[in-house]
Amino acid sequence: MATAKRIGILTAGGDSPGLNAAIRGIGKAALDSYGMEVIGFRDGFRGLIEDRAFRLDRRLSGILTVGGTILGTSRDKPHRMVVNGEVVDMTAAVISTYEKRRLDALVCLGGGGTAKNALRLARAGLNVITLPKTIDNDVVLTDATCGFATALDIATEAIDRLHSTAHSHHRIIVVEIMGHGAGWLTLGAGIAGGADVILIPEIPYTLEPIAEAILRRVRAGSNFSIVAVAEGARDPDFADAYAEAEARKRAASTPEEIRAAVSGLAAVEAAHAGNTLRLASRLEALTGLESRVTILGYVQRGGTPSAADRLLATRLGSAAADLVNQGVFGVMVAARGEGTEAVALEQVAGKHKPVPPDHSWVQAARHVGTCLGD
Ligand code: F6P
Repeated sequence: MATAKRIGILTAGGDSPGLNAAIRGIGKAALDSYGMEVIGFRDGFRGLIEDRAFRLDRRLSGILTVGGTILGTSRDKPHRMVVNGEVVDMTAAVISTYEKRRLDALVCLGGGGTAKNALRLARAGLNVITLPKTIDNDVVLTDATCGFATALDIATEAIDRLHSTAHSHHRIIVVEIMGHGAGWLTLGAGIAGGADVILIPEIPYTLEPIAEAILRRVRAGSNFSIVAVAEGARDPDFADAYAEAEARKRAASTPEEIRAAVSGLAAVEAAHAGNTLRLASRLEALTGLESRVTILGYVQRGGTPSAADRLLATRLGSAAADLVNQGVFGVMVAARGEGTEAVALEQVAGKHKPVPPDHSWVQAARHVGTCLGD
């Protein structure tokens, strides 16, 4: 008699709403439809390396609506783990756990970075599938990522609430929204919440058009404004420094050059910290309106997932179980229109999906008179 297939599941990278819904989707489909066994590894790739595992069978009920991840997560990379203060390649330990646990497949829930780690494991001979999750929505070749819809709702509600206080005090409120290097969350929430100015990393801004847009509103009788700024939007004073540091990183080939380029970029990023506070005080000086800052931060990643994320996570999770059953590995299970699609990890790993400057959301924002800082 054939033995049941065994799936391992882990969550890696920053948490996002909908992870538990995805774990449940994979687990229930694997158990109920295919009679597989499901094991969870704690704290991302670190738990896999350290073989910290537990049977998920009885943990799949009651988690659909729960935020975070019941597995725990980490940003550890198997090939660059910090062990006793040293950076070590632990790929062999991953393989050893995979074999010891007699896994037939490993499903990794994560973003582009997780896909990169998963691809390395696939190349080392493991049967790996990834499922895209991140509030940043920056994973290529999938229509959506788990967590984005919830974060979009949270950030939009925050902008709604900021409107009444900005209006009452005749202030500019600059609200900083997450998204790492991508502007999807800021642009989406900015449009949905009716922000007057939206600044995203993909569209370099200068201060003058922003101040002018705010003053235009004042002249028209609205002496308050909401500025939605992505955490990755770039202070014009740092734009050249960033461009140079990034060009150096792209051109670097020797380990020394790569190390120097990475630390050069980190130095620019450190100098850029506090951009949102600087932006608010500059706008105050340019417009004469009092300014305040709200940094939404981790609120955007916390709490119960929205209906849209539960639905997406369940669709992708159950499709991942189908792929394991069919023996399709080395892929990310992507959302495509009404369905799902298996996309080769090579096409996803380490890639990033910025907002195209001519994207329909950008056009819509411009059409309703939103200032994008350019
Ligand atoms: O990738 C999700 C995200 O929330 C980004 O928007 C943000 O820049 C980053 O994670 C924060 O990372 P950490 O949880 O490591 O502070």
